[in-house]
Amino acid sequence: MASRRRLIAGNWKMNNTVPEAVVLAQEISNNFERDYSHRVDVAVLPPYVDLKPVTTVFEFDRVDIAVGAQNVYWQQAGAYTGEISVAMLKDIRCEFCLVGHSERRELFGETNEEVNLKAKALIAGGIKPIVCVGESLSMRDGGAYLDYVTAQVKAAFAGIDEAAAKECVVAYEPVWAIGTGRTATPEQAEEVCSAIRAQLSQMYGEEVSEAMRILYGGSMNEGNADLLLAMPNIDGGLIGGASLKAKSFIEIVKAALR
Ligand code: 13P
Repeated sequence: MASRRRLIAGNWKMNNTVPEAVVLAQEISNNFERDYSHRVDVAVLPPYVDLKPVTTVFEFDRVDIAVGAQNVYWQQAGAYTGEISVAMLKDIRCEFCLVGHSERRELFGETNEEVNLKAKALIAGGIKPIVCVGESLSMRDGGAYLDYVTAQVKAAFAGIDEAAAKECVVAYEPVWAIGTGRTATPEQAEEVCSAIRAQLSQMYGEEVSEAMRILYGGSMNEGNADLLLAMPNIDGGLIGGASLKAKSFIEIVKAALR
């Protein structure tokens, strides 16, 4: 593997009230050995209302775990009821933000164009986008999944230059593997992650594409993390269900250290 630092990010999705989030953050912090952060980047991505309380727990404990959001709106400020801006996230020290998670694309109709606008706004505001891509089961069965996923990457990164792209993370999450317990095999995940890197290389050249991190997500847990992370183009994990239990999440972090 090139010298990419691994990233393990826990997507809490729509789980945990503030008191619950504080308890989970505290459990993660208590089980987090200081030297983990010398070798791996770790982040949690709680719901908006939990961001500040979770950041406060980690800052109080002086533990090197980043916090990120699950969504953002691209406009700077104004009459956009219900939305949250990049500046608001930056102010509470969010380091990362998901864009284009398949649940947002499927349930909330988020388009490739919106994903691109969000990624650009985040970059402009100094937050690292984690751009999510992935095919549905019918797409996989139809056989055109590599074309589909690489087209998502191309659209998400349209108009983003090399220097900015380097700061971005891509997460490959096959929709059929999310929350289903049906993980992609390491070979299936590697095939798509390597196609994503080839697409990035086409857009930005080899040096940039080799520096960018590509995560796998979809029923990743402490039992399968080792084999997935052993793949040359998988640089970490985007963890859903297993990130809601401190012990499981920490075990996945430990797998990334090996
Ligand atoms: P699960 O790990 O629960 O399958 O969720 C994956 C995911 O969507 C992370 O963003």
